[in-house]
Amino acid sequence: MNEATKARRDFLKFLAASPYVAALGSVAAFLRRGALAQSAQEASDVITKPSEALNVFDFEEVAHRNVMHGHWMYMASGVDDDGTLAANREAFKHIELRPRRLHDATKVDMRVNLFGTTYDSPIFTCPTGGEKSFHPEGELAVARAAKARGTLQILSTSTSTGVEDVNKALGRPVWFQLYAPDSWTVCQKILNRVQAAGCTVVALTVDNTTGRNSETYMRNRGDVRVCAECHTVKGQNVNTSSGQMMYEDIDMTGVKTQNPAMDWAFVDQLRKFWKGKLLIKGIDTREDARLAVDHGFDGILVSNHGGRSTETLRATVRALTEVVAEVKGKAPVFVDGGFRRGTDVFKALALGATAVGIGRPMLWGLGAFGEPGVNRVLEIMQGELKMAMGNCGTLTVAEITHAYVATEWKG
Ligand code: FNR
Repeated sequence: MNEATKARRDFLKFLAASPYVAALGSVAAFLRRGALAQSAQEASDVITKPSEALNVFDFEEVAHRNVMHGHWMYMASGVDDDGTLAANREAFKHIELRPRRLHDATKVDMRVNLFGTTYDSPIFTCPTGGEKSFHPEGELAVARAAKARGTLQILSTSTSTGVEDVNKALGRPVWFQLYAPDSWTVCQKILNRVQAAGCTVVALTVDNTTGRNSETYMRNRGDVRVCAECHTVKGQNVNTSSGQMMYEDIDMTGVKTQNPAMDWAFVDQLRKFWKGKLLIKGIDTREDARLAVDHGFDGILVSNHGGRSTETLRATVRALTEVVAEVKGKAPVFVDGGFRRGTDVFKALALGATAVGIGRPMLWGLGAFGEPGVNRVLEIMQGELKMAMGNCGTLTVAEITHAYVATEWKG
């Protein structure tokens, strides 16, 4: 029995004995519970190649089996009771489509132009740290798939592959997600490297500066010694899934990789320094959306970190509405969190989003089959979106307006 299989068995044994799991009815119910397996069906049988997948959930169980148990738990879980994580998915049930019939939909054009580059669809891949912990080719596999599918890739500061190599594999620069360290000098060094690599868009993440309570992960991750070498600190072994690559050759002694003191004054300093486009990731309210525009951000990404930062937040697709209303077209508004279906993407576009990010589905594809898995995840989501657009009578992304959805909430 290999280590991954053993860890999985141990985990299932642990679950079976857990009173929390008993309260939910069964191990399967626990695994199905929004937080850990977001598909509607039980995966009794798993796909053996990407082409067999009918939807993105088909990759989840395969990734679960392949990926080292602790890494999988880290990816799958949220915070506290995993409520924000579940809310992101649940909200889509409360938005219904209002299709218009009898439009010639033989040609549906999903292309979007984002900051001067045209992409094949408005679906992008979110920054997720240490992608090598899901597949040995990590960020490079994601880049190759994104290239093949004309997809925007946002790369995490916690990338396990240097930005230069990822850009090469992608064939154009990624958008770089910045976790601002508490040292301005280190921050400048990272940005200089990113700029030298050809990147012109930076997305500053602001939703997770003071840590998080990853309770489900902590309870269920198993013996972390199994993957201790994945978490070796800089200087000893940077070429692992530890997500330290962007700190290479930088003295990180005493530096916090995320700055709990980050505020709007920091943003002004960053805005002055970074000459390219600047996006803010993690905005959930109209008040902050207005401040973001006033402080010179070129775009806003409505996000709650995939339910991984603060508990009991609204679904991002709900928060999107008030952000769009406040921004009034002064800057593009992006969104991520819980998007698993083409219709989910359609709904966000109808509510005013310019583009929509996927995090976990991309990692399921990666963990399951590497590059071909991510490629197929993108193909499925793009295909579903195209079908929804055609059936709703919207032939371009620009035609998808609020008139195509009914929501229970105002806006
Ligand atoms: C993330 N996310 C994230 N965000 C970010 O700004 N920097 C990062 O390094 C990471 N790392 C990360 C790791 C893992 C394993 C996950 C699942 C997520 C958040 C990510 O960019 C995005 O906001 C969410 O993943 C979107 O939600 P879904 O699609 O996963 O539901």
